[in-house]
Amino acid sequence: TDLAHIRNFSIVAHIDHGKSTLADRLIQETGTVQDRDMKEQLLDAMDIERERGITIKANTVRIDYTADNGETYVLNLIDTPGHVDFAYEVSRSMRAVEGSLLVVDSTQGVEAQTLANVYQAIDADHEIVPILNKIDLPASECDRVAEQIEDVIGIDASGAIRVSAKTGVGIHETLEAIVHHLPAPKGTRDAPLKAMLVDSWYDSYLGVIVLVRIMDGVLKKGMRVKFMSNGTLHHVDRIGVFRPAMQMIDSLGPGEIGFLTASIKQVRDTRVGDTITNDRNGTETALPGFKPAQPVVFCGLFPVDSAEFEDLRDAIEKLALNDASFSYEMETSAALGFGFRCGFLGLLHLEVIRDRLEREYDIELITTAPSVVYHVFMKDGEMRELHNPADMPDLSKVDHIEEPRIKATILVPDEYLGDVLKLCQDRRGIQQDLSYAGSRAMVVYDLPLNEVVFDFYDRLKSVTKGYASFDYQLTGYREDSLVKMSILVNDEPVDALSTMVHRDRAEARGRAMCEKLKDLIPRHMFKIPIQAAIGGKVIARETLSALRKDVTAKCYGGDATRKKKLLEKQKAGKKKMRQFGKVDIPQEAFISALKMD
Ligand code: GTP
Repeated sequence: TDLAHIRNFSIVAHIDHGKSTLADRLIQETGTVQDRDMKEQLLDAMDIERERGITIKANTVRIDYTADNGETYVLNLIDTPGHVDFAYEVSRSMRAVEGSLLVVDSTQGVEAQTLANVYQAIDADHEIVPILNKIDLPASECDRVAEQIEDVIGIDASGAIRVSAKTGVGIHETLEAIVHHLPAPKGTRDAPLKAMLVDSWYDSYLGVIVLVRIMDGVLKKGMRVKFMSNGTLHHVDRIGVFRPAMQMIDSLGPGEIGFLTASIKQVRDTRVGDTITNDRNGTETALPGFKPAQPVVFCGLFPVDSAEFEDLRDAIEKLALNDASFSYEMETSAALGFGFRCGFLGLLHLEVIRDRLEREYDIELITTAPSVVYHVFMKDGEMRELHNPADMPDLSKVDHIEEPRIKATILVPDEYLGDVLKLCQDRRGIQQDLSYAGSRAMVVYDLPLNEVVFDFYDRLKSVTKGYASFDYQLTGYREDSLVKMSILVNDEPVDALSTMVHRDRAEARGRAMCEKLKDLIPRHMFKIPIQAAIGGKVIARETLSALRKDVTAKCYGGDATRKKKLLEKQKAGKKKMRQFGKVDIPQEAFISALKMD
């Protein structure tokens, strides 16, 4: 296709504002899914499950659209992940297209993710077409929301298209706007190949599928290509596009978006943002801004049943093959035995991986407190990255410690503003901005990431009854007065409960943790001291008193089956405990003890 007849775009929206519904409508309106032959062929070649896998991951679609001017255009829609954890992936996919549809629910208005995503689009120099969705609903307030878009985002929304992705109103206008308001891509056919690696994922039938945007040159089947970040060479077996089902083709030219396969075994060998070129006489200059995704949140994963360690290793290795942003290394904890220290892009990413390990691989896990990466500057000038509070070097050798900070943007109805400010203040936040968009306040805070990774989002939802929206980006590192707090149970340090805290908050935090643990740890036959300490100094203490009576005595005289049932329950309960010295600590204690209410 010639460049003038290509339009590449993404859709940016807050969650639930109708991105997927709109995309489906655009596909349906252009008849892209009507092609029965292709579908049948496709189903021959692969099972349903595989197809499902593709539709979940590859929300990229190539649409042919014959416009009112009689010319046929190729429209490529690239989906962008909506969640903050994947901000880097979003920014990459944005660089692969020239324009965005900005979808705002006209019954709701602009939200935090609308802002975060639209700023990424603006950074990528996109033309932006504003769309007011859900106009079929009685609560729709198009004028108000259009005004809000102008006030808050600062783009012209006077011509915003009024759409109901549900009924189909405004879909034709949207397609015309894509053709007439978004620019055609640029690129040179005769130049060496320069393609951007936009995304990649594993397919059990085809191996790793690599989504690419061709900037210059032509990608052809049978070619040998080089991935510039690591210099690896690959033979291109297949080239194709999604319509939305896969369709194999022979080549992709400048401005086009499609996929290649090249017998690549692991997603790990492909890096989002990388430049792909010819193996010989390739381009000299890689695309700017490539950086591998860096894990920012670390935690320990240990099997509840230590006999499952090898199963956990296998499961983690399998997951890692398909997720380059997930890192892991073996860890031994005095308290928890063998496990893994794992790195994630954010909390959602952590939860997704943990859930998959538990559900798909059926391994019960103890998850230790999530920690951010601290920069520990030693007196001899060395800087150490600290992924695990348990590894904190001796304080006498430490000069200072820096922690990662974020810029958090929160949108919230007026009446909850006070609670939100208090929450941010409690989390060592520094207010940077406060403005209004109608009856909603927009607050910007500079916060330590450490105070956000744990339960900030849950707390925010609960103090605002779910009405706040939240987004953040990492801004850098800053020195602060940080210390490692250890927890001792029955005079034994439990390394999995060590955390980094701000010195001024250590005492309050220590007290809260000791109180929580006192409730979480069952009573034993002896008295158990629970203490929080910094260095050798105890800063908080609780005592769990001893059991006075033998509880099993209650069972005497009861019938045998009941007794057996109770014993079985006990056994199952025990399995979820870990022994620390002489003390059993239940699995949930490791997370619950850290929650701050
Ligand atoms: P995520 O995929 O979760 O990010 O959400 P999304 O932005 O893709 O939103 P989605 O398309 O899933 O729509 C969210 C909800 O709004 C769904 O229940 C849709 O049926 C509904 N919806 C989308 N567009 C319209 C519309 O124009 N009118 C009405 N009444 N409902 C709509």
